[in-house]
Amino acid sequence: MTDARTVPVDPTSVERLAGQNLTYRMIDTASDADSEAFFRADMRGFLDPDPTAEVVTATTDALKDRRNIGVFEAGVAVGTLPVATVNSWITPLTVPGGEVDMWAISSVTVSGTHRRRGIARALLEGELRAAASAGVAIAGLTVSEATIYGRYGFASAVPVAKITVDTRRAGWAAPAPAGRVEYIDKETLKEHLSTLHEVARTQRSGQIAGWDMRWDRVAGLTPDHPAPAAVRGIRYLDEHGAVRGVMAYKLSEIPDAFRFEMSIFHISAVTPDALTALWGFALQHDLVDKISVDLRPIDDPLPWLVNDRRGVEVTVHDHGWLRILDVPAALSARTYRAPLDLVLRVGDAQGFAAGAWRLTVTDGRATITPVAEDTVDITLDVSTLSALYAGGVSAVQLRACGRLDATAEAAASLDDAFRAVEAPLLGIWY
Ligand SMILES: CC(C)(COP(=O)(O)OP(=O)(O)OC[C@H]1O[C@@H](n2cnc3c(N)ncnc32)[C@H](O)[C@@H]1OP(=O)(O)O)[C@@H](O)C(=O)NCCC(=O)NCCS
Repeated sequence: MTDARTVPVDPTSVERLAGQNLTYRMIDTASDADSEAFFRADMRGFLDPDPTAEVVTATTDALKDRRNIGVFEAGVAVGTLPVATVNSWITPLTVPGGEVDMWAISSVTVSGTHRRRGIARALLEGELRAAASAGVAIAGLTVSEATIYGRYGFASAVPVAKITVDTRRAGWAAPAPAGRVEYIDKETLKEHLSTLHEVARTQRSGQIAGWDMRWDRVAGLTPDHPAPAAVRGIRYLDEHGAVRGVMAYKLSEIPDAFRFEMSIFHISAVTPDALTALWGFALQHDLVDKISVDLRPIDDPLPWLVNDRRGVEVTVHDHGWLRILDVPAALSARTYRAPLDLVLRVGDAQGFAAGAWRLTVTDGRATITPVAEDTVDITLDVSTLSALYAGGVSAVQLRACGRLDATAEAAASLDDAFRAVEAPLLGIWY
């Protein structure tokens, strides 16, 4: 896998920003001052409080693993805050039947003093060009606002569910699995979150690899955690004593009720029994009236585990956004559930994926070849193809809203082939 830090900054964006007297460059993570300035600008850009020295020290080390880019007023000293930030790294993205390298993009901020003059566009297009130059077939991100990234060819491809439970109404109907649930301390919680995610992420399309600081944060081990003492952890061991599931959560009192709400930060369960056991622990917890959790798969079995499914509210929302850069490489990296032989005409404002492509699926594997445009069956934008890619968005639905120009039969065939067996999931923010 290529190291994103070794990929040069995009010359087109360097030039475009130089025209505004701005310097677009890689942060030198060997320099504490440069790293700190990047991190403080990132925090400010996301409307977070200015970090303490302790938080800066604990966090800037993690920047070393990433390709961090800052945009600076020309000529400022090292240590001056950049006016815009972005970072990226290459991570495995799980797809049906395997994995593909994905250019993950994060920390996109433009300072309030420099907004709406094309800096974010230079950052995003610069990252996409850098990814393509490194031969990475797809880019991904999670978003603060769903209206920003479609223009760069991204689409919501991995929808997830936010679940809230009225435990008194829902009740519990499932038999107890054969293993047992145990409380664990925060260090063990962090370790299990990390190791189980490495297994869980391979089980559903849409997942990416985690990283240390992500799990420190979930386990309440980072110095800027708002309430570390409240973080609790449990694990599920199967009947042979192997750890198969882990859950991080906190309990907060519902004012004047002497009853509690359980907010679940993360569940990783690598077997159905483990998930049932963790849900069973939560829903049967004494004094807990309400449970909330986000980033669950939209086919989470919970509504089928309770007495009254109307006590379980499932809200689907966008979470994982993808952007195909290399059509043959991306489409041949995954498997398919039905044969296909169609020509797609893909539009792409940035040009990476544009063209007419014959997509032939035989025995679950695709061959993609460029073809003449006169034989097209399906016309769609790269963002629409990216929405379909992980197998969690319906081509029939995209046709109904006009984003896919095809016969009903062709859209249905795409769905038969592309749909993942289990709903895709992205269990983390990045
Ligand atoms: C979102 C943000 C990065 C945009 O930066 P910017 O430099 O002002 O954006 P640009 O001037 O390059 O605008 C590029 C395009 O995005 C659009 N755009 C910018 N901000 C937008 C927003 N918040 N919602 C919708 N569209 C937006 C612009 O209208 C422009 O459209 P066009 O080129 O098609 O005409 C910036 O407002 C910011 O830092 N916000 C807070 C942090 C954040 O939300 N980051 C995104 C993390 S996922």
